[in-house]
Amino acid sequence: MALLPILCYPDPKLHRVAKPVDGVDARIRTLVADMLETMYDAKGIGLAATQIDVHERLIVIDVSEERDAPLILINPELVWTSPETHINEEGCLSVPGIYDGVERFDAVHVRAGDEHGNTRTIEADGLLAVCIQHEMDHLLGKVFVEYLSPLKRNRIKKKMLKAQREDDR
Ligand code: NI
Repeated sequence: MALLPILCYPDPKLHRVAKPVDGVDARIRTLVADMLETMYDAKGIGLAATQIDVHERLIVIDVSEERDAPLILINPELVWTSPETHINEEGCLSVPGIYDGVERFDAVHVRAGDEHGNTRTIEADGLLAVCIQHEMDHLLGKVFVEYLSPLKRNRIKKKMLKAQREDDR
């Protein structure tokens, strides 16, 4: 297993649209294991392949407190969304230190493959529903700060670029 580098906003590679995973093989299972290790190491609750510069429709999630309930979503598709929405505070491993409110569906049903190649439908609400929507946005090249006002987004962009310059020194 290996820790993978996570792309940081405003890296343009975060805006690439992921292609479907073409079958679950040894490469995908290794990628899943590495993404889980990377997510747990970074203390995140979700990681999309886009964030580690792999542009395929693959997500790992764990919203459990014990950090022992990994959820693998391969080629996820939303099949139902609740009529109710809420604004929740979100953060992202690709935008470290930034948290802001984003409107999401309260509940979703998502059809997705697992690491064994089986497809199932997951009914999610609460934090899991928010996390699934956030991670599925990544696969479409969308980062949560794009829901914020242009003013806020530019401020975040500047802050991130400044932090990255300081890291490079
Ligand atoms: Ni994110």
